[in-house]
Amino acid sequence: MKILILNGPNLNLLGKREPEIYGSRGFENYYEELKGRYPEVEFEYAQSNIEGELINKIHEVGFDWDGIVFNAGAYTHTSVALQDAIRGVKAPVVEVHISNVHQREEFRHHSMISCACLGVICGFGLDSYRLGIEALIAHKGMAHD
Ligand code: DQA
Repeated sequence: MKILILNGPNLNLLGKREPEIYGSRGFENYYEELKGRYPEVEFEYAQSNIEGELINKIHEVGFDWDGIVFNAGAYTHTSVALQDAIRGVKAPVVEVHISNVHQREEFRHHSMISCACLGVICGFGLDSYRLGIEALIAHKGMAHD
């Protein structure tokens, strides 16, 4: 099984950025732990601050890979183009957020991409990514203990 973890804008600053909201752990460090947890899954990790690069990455893996765990950052709330990209590929996409966006500012309550995704996970810190992976594994019908 092949899963892409895709992070959008400002998520390269995880660990340094607003640690009271996003925690003090960098993503690369967490990614190593995730990979160790799922030896049967082939992972790739990509991050971009540029909307078009996120779209290109979705196109690149979206026809061959088994799923994408996607934190679109602030583009979540604005991007019709990302919604179209997700709709345009075959791979299921799980939208994830570290923070509980529904407890935050009103502009974060609406997602432009949720309607194109398999489902949404938010509010569990970095564990949101693991839950997203679990959702994709369950969706594919693979048992994991
Ligand atoms: C975020 C929530 C977004 O509203 C915000 O713009 C982010 C991170 C999260 O993971 O909680 O950049 O997607």
